[in-house]
Parts: sequence; C-alpha cells; structure tokens
Amino acid sequence: MYPPSSQYSALATDPEEADYVGLRPHRRTWRSSFLSRRSAFVVLGGLIIFVVGGLYLRSERTSAKVPLGESDALPQDAFRFNDSSRPDWLDVPPPEPLVLRIAVITRLDAFERRRVIRETVFHGVRERDVSMHYRFVVGAPPKTDEGEKTQRLVQEENDRFDDILMLHEIDDIPERISEKRYGALKWGGSVPNDTYDYFVTLDSDTFVRFGPLARRLPVLFGDKTIKPREDPLLIGRMGSHLTYFLPTVPDGNENAQDEDEFVVGPWFSYPIGIGYMLSSSLVKILLSTDPPLPHHIHYPSDDVMIGSWLASLRLFHDETIEWKIPPEKVNETHHTFPKPFLPQPIDTLIIDDIPGWHDFPARGGQQRNVTWDSVCIHHIKAPEMEILRGRPEFQSDWEIRN
Ligand SMILES: *[C@@H]1O[C@H](CO)[C@@H](O)[C@H](O)[C@H]1NC(C)=O
Ligand SMILES: *[C@@H]1O[C@H](CO)[C@@H](O)[C@H](O)[C@H]1NC(C)=O
Ligand SMILES: *[C@@H]1O[C@H](CO)[C@@H](O)[C@H](O)[C@H]1NC(C)=O
Ligand SMILES: *[C@@H]1O[C@H](CO)[C@@H](O)[C@H](O)[C@H]1NC(C)=O
Repeated sequence: MYPPSSQYSALATDPEEADYVGLRPHRRTWRSSFLSRRSAFVVLGGLIIFVVGGLYLRSERTSAKVPLGESDALPQDAFRFNDSSRPDWLDVPPPEPLVLRIAVITRLDAFERRRVIRETVFHGVRERDVSMHYRFVVGAPPKTDEGEKTQRLVQEENDRFDDILMLHEIDDIPERISEKRYGALKWGGSVPNDTYDYFVTLDSDTFVRFGPLARRLPVLFGDKTIKPREDPLLIGRMGSHLTYFLPTVPDGNENAQDEDEFVVGPWFSYPIGIGYMLSSSLVKILLSTDPPLPHHIHYPSDDVMIGSWLASLRLFHDETIEWKIPPEKVNETHHTFPKPFLPQPIDTLIIDDIPGWHDFPARGGQQRNVTWDSVCIHHIKAPEMEILRGRPEFQSDWEIRN
C-alpha cells in the first residue's frame, strides 16, 4: 500500500504533457514506487486525486485533437480575482530587468505545444521586466522512418525560430528525461554566472506570466537581500522526499533501463513537476562537481533529483547522519557514507511559493484557484493557454495585448 500503484499510474504527471502516449515506465518495483514523486501526497489524498487525475487524463487525450470550442472553456469558478484587490506589486517593475535563461522540456513531436507557448507565454513579455533567452529542449527521435521525418520537421522549425536545443545523444523517452534536464542545465550554465539571474526549467504544460513573476520576487524575498548571481537559491513549489541519488550510471550508457543508485536519508524539499528557478550562482555550483551530479533517473523521479542534488551538497558532509541503503539491494538495512560532491557544504535557500506555482484546480495535488499571485499555472492544455492569455486580468502582463 505504499503507494498503491493503481493510483500512481493514473496521474497526469508527465512533465512533457499528460498524454505521453505509451511511454510510461511499467516497472513497479519497490524502488520505483518508493521513488514516485507523488508518494507524499498520494499517501495523503490519493483517492480523490486518482479520480480527478483520471478525468483529466481522459479530457487531455480527447481534446488534444479537436479545435478549441465551448467545451474547452476553463471553469469560471477556478478564477478568484475578486477575493482580494489587485496587488500593488503588479504595477512595480523590477529596478533592472530580470535576466532569465529558460528551458522548456518538450517532446520532440510537440509542434503545436511549442507554437502555443511561443505565442501565449513568450511573445510580448515586457523588456523592462525580463530579458530572456529560451530554448525548447528535445531529445533524439527513434531510428525509424517516422522518427527521421519528425527530426526533419523539428530541424525546419528550428531553422525558422532558432529556439530548440536538440540533445542528439539523448533518446526522447521518459527513462532519459533527467538526462534532458541535466543537458538543459548545462545549456543554462553555458554562460558566466554574472551575466544572468536565474535558469528556469518548465514543463510544457505550465503557463507562465513572466512579467508578474519578475515583479513578485520582492514579495517572496521579504526583507532578505538576495543576490542570485552570488547566492544559491531555488524557487518553485516544493514537495518532500528522502532519496539521495548517487552517480553510478555513466553518461552514454546503452541501456535506458539503468538508473542511478540511491541512499535514504533525512527528508528534503524538491521542486514538484511544474518547474523551478535556480539562481545562476547555484547553476554554476551544480555544474562544478566531480563526478557530475547523478542524472540517470527515470521519470517520474526527475524532479526529485533536483532536490536530491541540493540536499546532498549540504548533507553528505554531515557525519552524524545515518544513511541507509534501500532494502531492494540488501536484505538488512545497512549504513553507508556517501562521498561529498564538493569540498565545502553548500547551503541553498529554498523558497516554496505556494500561491505562485500551482496546479489548475482539480488537476493535481498542488491545486489552487487562479489568483493575482498565480505566476506559473500547471496542467494547462495548449488551447487553454490561449484562453489564459486572453483573461482580462492578465492583459497588462504583456506588452502586446490580445
Ligand atoms: C469581479 O469584479 C469585476 C469588477 O468589479 C466584475 O466585473 C466581475 O463580474 C466580478 N466577478 C465575479 C466572479 O464576481
Ligand atoms: C559568480 O560570479 C561572481 C562575480 O563574477 C563571483 O564572485 C562568484 O564567485 C561566482 N560564482 C558563484 C558560485 O557564485
Ligand atoms: C536475501 O534473502 C533471500 C532469502 O532469504 C536470499 O535468497 C538472498 O540471497 C538474499 N540477498 C542478499 C543480497 O543477501
Ligand atoms: C476555489 O474557490 C471556490 C470558491 O471559493 C472553492 O469552493 C474551491 O474549493 C476553491 N478551489 C481550490 C482548489 O482551492
């Protein structure tokens, strides 16, 4: 019963869209169940989520093919703008534009998704709010005629928009998604840390209001002075987990089923699904370890991985912690001492932005109504992104109105 696998597999959890057809990993070992990033809330609210998750999956599948019509309208009672007046911070641009490097993890064949994200999320963000570089991150196609055709179309798309990061050495399958994340991180950190503020990674079903996201940071920081180019910082919506991955699978391994080993330790925070912002200082640190941080971890633990990195950088130095090897590997629980990744422990400030980053109502464990604070809204279908961009309350978020 921990967690019940039927509930787990019915959730619409795919970072690259809910209808990632036929590619869900089927192994249901103790380990993969344990690793499920949903385990925390599955245990708490499983049944309800199972039901709504199932409904959502079904609606995602059917509506993906039909044009936008009345039936696609988002439920009005999911929007709560009148509960509080429009906040003052929405009208205060940052003193300097926030400099962002943004990676959207998409499936290779998600052409329509990329078109809609370009038009509804990225197009017309005010330059005085945000200066951005963005890439859609895709892997390599299967070696079939169909795969080659898709690859050619993606190449044409990139010739036109020049915004796709193609990771040719990584197959575009869920088993490799954490390798895609690590590839995206390397792109993020391919410029010096003093030239940008945050590297942002987003799921392709996350709708983002970048202007308000920039304007809202002072609200999140309160009286703390934060310098993202010098301070390690993570912002997102946090869950909890306790698996610390170890770099046991080498890059370029042939077998996509191989997964990094892990030890069990104290609970830590990790950024659930939706996406995350890593300060440029933290990106620099994450990419400076030897060996590289573990990044051969299957969907759906690819987001747990991010939290595991930060917790490992801090806690692998602590000799008082009793690390445990999971029972799948040995019959008795053994203690072990994982090797630190860096000579110094790194303390990362983690901001759990509950009102800001959330699932759309009835579409996942982090569900909340949409308010002025909603800057990253998760589990949004492509036609619904157009509806959100058109909301009267969001009109002034972009330079160009609809
Ligand atoms: C919210 O307030 C606006 C303006 O005051 C009004 O036009 C709108 O109908 C209200 N919406 C709801 C759901 O009460
Ligand atoms: C980032 O850049 C600044 C300024 O160049 C530097 O002082 C700092 O040590 C760099 N690295 C990190 C990890 O913050
Ligand atoms: C675990 O226990 C089983 C049955 O008691 C035994 O067959 C197996 O070899 C043991 N595995 C290890 C790694 O000790
Ligand atoms: C959204 O708001 C309605 C009306 O206030 C409330 O009944 C509902 O529980 C809220 N939904 C969520 C997910 O918070």
